[in-house]
Amino acid sequence: MRSESNPNIQVSSPSNIAFVKYWGKYKEQLPINSSISMTLNKSRSFFDITLVPKEKRIVSSFLFENQSNESFEKKMEEFLRKIDLNILKNFSLNIKCHNSFPHSSGIASSASSMSALIYGLLSLDNEISNSAHSLSDMSYYARLGSGSASRSLFPHFSIWDFKSPESATQMNEYHKDFLTLKDAILIIDEDKKEVSSSLGHSLMDKNPYKEIRIDHATNNLNKLLIAMKDNDKKTFGKILEDEALTLHALMMTSDPSFILMKPNTLIAIKKIKNYREETGLPVYFTLDAGANLHLLYFCKNEKDIHIFIENELKTLCSREKVIYDEIGDGPIIHKISL
Ligand code: PMV
Repeated sequence: MRSESNPNIQVSSPSNIAFVKYWGKYKEQLPINSSISMTLNKSRSFFDITLVPKEKRIVSSFLFENQSNESFEKKMEEFLRKIDLNILKNFSLNIKCHNSFPHSSGIASSASSMSALIYGLLSLDNEISNSAHSLSDMSYYARLGSGSASRSLFPHFSIWDFKSPESATQMNEYHKDFLTLKDAILIIDEDKKEVSSSLGHSLMDKNPYKEIRIDHATNNLNKLLIAMKDNDKKTFGKILEDEALTLHALMMTSDPSFILMKPNTLIAIKKIKNYREETGLPVYFTLDAGANLHLLYFCKNEKDIHIFIENELKTLCSREKVIYDEIGDGPIIHKISL
């Protein structure tokens, strides 16, 4: 066993951005519809995990960005209690974690943090208990912490299929151009999210468009898979934007209703559409459950798109903040020592 300055494992795992959105769940974080996402690269959570002698609590000490954080710690403890792992029968944990991206930046920190924690723990369990947890097992456990975390374990793209919803899988068939995708995250609003994703998901139960949404998501997913195989960027972008606006339409039609886009979100959307029409370049937006926009484009057009962002979109962002991210390979073990 180690001291905290020499943890047993140091890992990081990225967030992801959904192309077809997961919105609505039942039982233990099982999705009402299938979703597909791109794994990010730079937007990551870093976890140092140290095994300590077993005590009543699983999380013996917890630091987030070098400070204690009661609500996050409670979430971790509750999550780990649901998980049946040999390593947790024998040890408690000291956890130190931080994100590479700022709070409330519209980047799903639950996806990166829950996947990082699980990746670290299961990798340790593989070493110590001679287990052979696969990425699929990791996705299963990460899902229990945060639905979207189930998709962060895989390189490039993953699918979480509502017909086999226990875990997500890697998506393997797509045109190579999609491996060059970039994601510029426009921080329109830095305030805390108005609606937690758990409340948002639960409001889908009584949403009058629930059944239509489930069919719509299935259709969108099928069309997106074909578009990505055929390198049909126009259809890809159309579905991406349709999914973003559908997600917000669902929030607007829930009870209570939420309008999460801000005036600058709408201005940016208009500018993106105009720019695409004028230049013919494949640049598309998507949104999560918040005001911030993710701009998806291809490496080939990076120079032009950056000029567009810097000249036209940056001033719409809070403190002119833009995070330039891209497609990524998934979690990394930075160090392991038993
Ligand atoms: O994983 P959760 O419960 O935070 O839900 C994520 C929901 C969206 O980010 C809005 C969509 C998605 O598929 O990631």
